[in-house]
Amino acid sequence: MSTPVLQVERLYMAYRRPEGWLEVLRDLSFQVAEGEFVTVIGPSGCGKTTLLRLIAGLIRPVSGQILLRGNPVFQPSREVGFVFQQPALLPWRTALENVALPLEVDGCSRKEALQKARALLRWVGLEGFENAYPTHLSGGMAQRVALARALIHDPSILLLDEPFGSLDALTRETLARELARLWEERRLTVLMVTHSVSEAVFLADRVLVLTPRPTTLAAEVPVSLPRPRDATLLEEPAFIALVREVRERLNWAQRSGSVTQTPNLWYNPPDNRANLVGTVSNATLESDRRTSGAVLPGYRD
Ligand SMILES: Nc1ncnc2c1ncn2[C@@H]1O[C@H](COP(=O)(O)OP(=O)(O)OP(=O)(O)O)[C@@H](O)[C@H]1O
Ligand SMILES: [Mg+2]
Repeated sequence: MSTPVLQVERLYMAYRRPEGWLEVLRDLSFQVAEGEFVTVIGPSGCGKTTLLRLIAGLIRPVSGQILLRGNPVFQPSREVGFVFQQPALLPWRTALENVALPLEVDGCSRKEALQKARALLRWVGLEGFENAYPTHLSGGMAQRVALARALIHDPSILLLDEPFGSLDALTRETLARELARLWEERRLTVLMVTHSVSEAVFLADRVLVLTPRPTTLAAEVPVSLPRPRDATLLEEPAFIALVREVRERLNWAQRSGSVTQTPNLWYNPPDNRANLVGTVSNATLESDRRTSGAVLPGYRD
């Protein structure tokens, strides 16, 4: 494996709840190499979103560290793009303006921001829909806008949190194929959470299988299927065998992993308080940023 872009080292995470501490991640370690597409699959509630939020620098771990190109992550950075499960677009901004928002917040000229946003929208297949408002976009189109927005800072790693989770099966398959094609064009480093075993295998170079809480790595399954990948792959015996293997590993992890809600009081509480680290002069942009949930450098929540 070449130099890792992302190193997750001995990560522990817990949340304070009224009934005590909920231990979510326990001694979780893995690496992602430059240009690799890694998918993450695990039981519901095991901490996948928590993991992505930690990597994005939105929250801090109890212990352990996350290194991005060798540098510890303390806050959100332009290096990381984040696509949430729900696209979280601002209804009063057009598709183009939604994509341009992070650059505008960053102080880039509106003209330049819109120009770059236009190129990204074209790239995700939405040419002609630049001036459409989110209510006039289908779920799949809205997710493409969210993907374009996450790419506006040219991140070196893209975090995708079940981006197709709320879509129907057909749209989901189409978008997965498109994502594979886009990734092959750009060779971004991607870490994507999904609940679909076949989607995990179809897209990935490697699938990380997680245990139930307190969550650690149950297995890493390398996927050395040829690229480019298209729908015909779904019928291939090698693909079907890998899907079976990931499913078995997941079932095994579910059976042997432990789900605990027992309070753990042996470590210092993590500091997850809302904390605005940066400032922007434009109140409207700030309010748009907050409403959209877009991850922008300089902020932590
Ligand atoms: N801010 C928070 N405060 C307290 N508990 C939290 C917080 N965020 C998440 N949790 C709890 O931590 C656990 C892991 O949550 P998380 O959202 O990371 O799981 P997940 O694997 O993404 O789940 P899903 O597959 O359903 O999306 C859950 O039990 C959840 O209730
Ligand atoms: Mg989640």
